[in-house]
Amino acid sequence: MIHWNAAYSDADTTKLGWYQKEHSVSLQLISSCKGIRLIDVGVGTTTLIDSLLEKEYEITALDISDKALEIMKQRHGDNLNYVQADLSEELDLGDFDIWHDRAVLHFLLKESERQTYLANMKSCISSGGFAVIETFSKDGAQICCGLDLYTYDENMLIELLGDDWILIESIRHTHINPFGGERPYISTIFKRV
Ligand SMILES: C[S@@+](CC[C@H](N)C(=O)[O-])C[C@H]1O[C@@H](n2cnc3c(N)ncnc32)[C@H](O)[C@@H]1O
Repeated sequence: MIHWNAAYSDADTTKLGWYQKEHSVSLQLISSCKGIRLIDVGVGTTTLIDSLLEKEYEITALDISDKALEIMKQRHGDNLNYVQADLSEELDLGDFDIWHDRAVLHFLLKESERQTYLANMKSCISSGGFAVIETFSKDGAQICCGLDLYTYDENMLIELLGDDWILIESIRHTHINPFGGERPYISTIFKRV
């Protein structure tokens, strides 16, 4: 948590490497899922939430960093539910229609952490629900925010999620960070069987 709180201690969140003014790919993928109860895991201070609130999603914002959640509380007050938690630990999160992760899964380097992440996802998305997962692509950067990454291609995500989830759509695209660097992503929708 200390590492991530330090990242958010600079008041200007628009200078973070993962900052994006508009999240068109995330919005496109989320809009094609059914349901309005959404949990955004590793939410950070993303502007995606502003757009989702306009579309009247019921949002739970989860992050390991209480500093990031504090910034979100200042911005959105009672319009969100807030959960400070580590996705690599077993959690009781409730029920949702859509799980959204942009740029968290790739920080889980150990297989045991990834399996706990998946168990958390499965515990709150029932059959017919959706997981929108966006990670750094295997052919892109291997470090973010000073941390090593475990990056993915489409087949690796299919294999990781296993038979309980079916890939509905996947998009490869490149995020240009605030310093002009190219960060190739793979963004996917999975549906729970
Ligand atoms: C690269 S940022 C992405 C933030 C946001 N999703 C976005 O697209 O702007 C990764 C976020 O994941 C959070 N995070 C990292 N490891 C985590 C973990 N194990 N559990 C929960 N959140 C975590 C960090 O605090 C940070 O806010």
